[in-house]
Amino acid sequence: MGSGRNVAVFGAYGHTGRFVVAELRERGYVPLLLGRDQDKLLALVETHPGLETRQASVDDPASLDRALHGAAAVINCAGPFATTAAPLVEAALRAGIPYVDVAAEIEANVDTFAHFADRAREAGAVVVPAMAFYGGLGDLLVTTAMGDWTAADEAHVAYGLSSWHPTAGTLAAGVVSGQRRSGRRVRYTGGQLEYHDDALPTLEWPFPAPLGPQSVIGEFTMADVVTVPSHLAVPEVRTYMTAKAAADLSAPDASAPTAVDERGRSAQTFIVDVLVCSGGAERRVVASGQDIYAITAPLAVEAVERILTGRTRTTGVVSAGAVFDAPDFLRALSAHLSLHVPLDVRG
Ligand SMILES: NC(=O)c1ccc[n+]([C@@H]2O[C@H](COP(=O)([O-])OP(=O)(O)OC[C@H]3O[C@@H](n4cnc5c(N)ncnc54)[C@H](OP(=O)(O)O)[C@@H]3O)[C@@H](O)[C@H]2O)c1
Repeated sequence: MGSGRNVAVFGAYGHTGRFVVAELRERGYVPLLLGRDQDKLLALVETHPGLETRQASVDDPASLDRALHGAAAVINCAGPFATTAAPLVEAALRAGIPYVDVAAEIEANVDTFAHFADRAREAGAVVVPAMAFYGGLGDLLVTTAMGDWTAADEAHVAYGLSSWHPTAGTLAAGVVSGQRRSGRRVRYTGGQLEYHDDALPTLEWPFPAPLGPQSVIGEFTMADVVTVPSHLAVPEVRTYMTAKAAADLSAPDASAPTAVDERGRSAQTFIVDVLVCSGGAERRVVASGQDIYAITAPLAVEAVERILTGRTRTTGVVSAGAVFDAPDFLRALSAHLSLHVPLDVRG
């Protein structure tokens, strides 16, 4: 068996996986480097001498079982998650270890809740999909903004990205999600996901200084529409994206992020401005930081750390806001996230 400090990272050599591996090492964990391509795993070891590599394929359950042997938890960073999530959750359940992924794909996250909720709960297992910038952070912020409210009329999550240089994995996830929707759009309204063909609205969102008001695409629907309603009674969940970043993402010549600092972060900055409304009252929480891929690593690793140290509220397939103390979780990321939480919603 492992030391309890071994954490498997599936998709370890991907852009996000590399940030996760580095974050685990910084916190004293021993990452097990998992992926489908042994040559890419060995190339990664050149940056992390001494770490163990384990080649495994989602088509081969036995290879996944071998790869997870001795691991205390697994973080799945290999997307599209429409392909990888279910086999990895199955393997984690067989191994009896927690599973965390960084899926931004709405339908894949819905599937994880739908297919594994009962089994994970019965097994007392913790499975956290979308434990990442999209899905996880928004849910932690909405949960924090709700404070003592148990329900709200609306939750708005506005993403103020300075730019968006997407990875190959992001673009592949977008293609898969688009295919699963037959090219339709999706929004969360009336307490459910609604597929439609309406044009996306453009509006101005009043981001706080220094960003200030920005043109955003409304109904730029992200994974928060799965994570937030999974545990909060909010029938309208809307997400917005700065128009410039949305244009970067869909540009035919979209280029991958390039590192500008020693941590490997790009120059991209973000503000996530969350507003919840109930009966005419409003509560707002804002977070800001650098590089949406890099911030995903402390989010996923903090989640694993809390699960492994018993700082969880429930079991089953759960979103971040449901299973963790959201304000405390966000405060723990102060080295990576600047938070503005008004006095009336502080936990
Ligand atoms: N929710 C969020 O905020 C958030 C944040 C970061 C990332 N993500 C998601 O995480 C995924 C990875 O993103 P990334 O930025 O790391 O992209 P990336 O650099 O392109 O890496 C993708 C990784 O997935 C692996 N992979 C793809 N299909 C696989 C399969 N069938 N079996 C095994 N491995 C497979 C790739 O391995 P090969 O090189 O062998 O193909 C590679 O290691 C994307 O889906 C992205 O949307 C979400």
